[in-house]
Amino acid sequence: MSLKRITVLISGRGSNLGALIDACVHGSIAGAVTHVLSNRRDAPGLRIAERHAIATTVVEQRDYASRDAFDRALVEAVDRTEPDLCVLAGFMRLLDDTFVERYQGRLINIHPSLLPLYPGLHTHRRALADGVKAHGCTAHFVTSKLDGGPIIAQGVVGVRDDDDEATLAARVLEVEHRVLPAAVRWFCEGRLCIVSNRVQLLDGPRSGDALVAPPDR
Ligand code: GRF
Repeated sequence: MSLKRITVLISGRGSNLGALIDACVHGSIAGAVTHVLSNRRDAPGLRIAERHAIATTVVEQRDYASRDAFDRALVEAVDRTEPDLCVLAGFMRLLDDTFVERYQGRLINIHPSLLPLYPGLHTHRRALADGVKAHGCTAHFVTSKLDGGPIIAQGVVGVRDDDDEATLAARVLEVEHRVLPAAVRWFCEGRLCIVSNRVQLLDGPRSGDALVAPPDR
């Protein structure tokens, strides 16, 4: 089976990108991160890509006269990388419909909440304000509905009495670093199947357990 080409879109730190690269390098994913694209030149995650000799591209909105021109440049830049899969790993721009439609079914996002709870920003703050006892992250296929596409995998963490935004975010992030590589691994193995908006894991356990806090294997 040939390795899937994975293009990762980032805006910042890139810790999920790092986790994904590590999983590819260690052979647990039948794919390789072949390109990293950022909408910010100063994104620290670009250095992670460079350390691994992975090609990078920057497409910054301020270099374009309009939002439309930026959106066009973004999709063209991604097209040039000829990806089998695009991963949004902390990419903080909304994608336009052209992008989402072109990559539908091969576009995965990692989001720091148990969707459909807390789409959008400030998820940890909102979870704490609501007093929920379980929080976590979701890897999902991207559709035109913000943080609303079919769910591939979720990781759960308990909320502690003394948690603040930073401590909760840190524990969720650890789980993100397992959930995103698991989702990408299953995609690269061709094991994800969307039936009526629900993602089924082919050749997996018959219970839904594999889709929650997935094991490392
Ligand atoms: C993560 O919490 C991810 O879920 C969210 O943005 C953050 C990116 O972190 N979409 P990093 O850049 O991967 O470290």
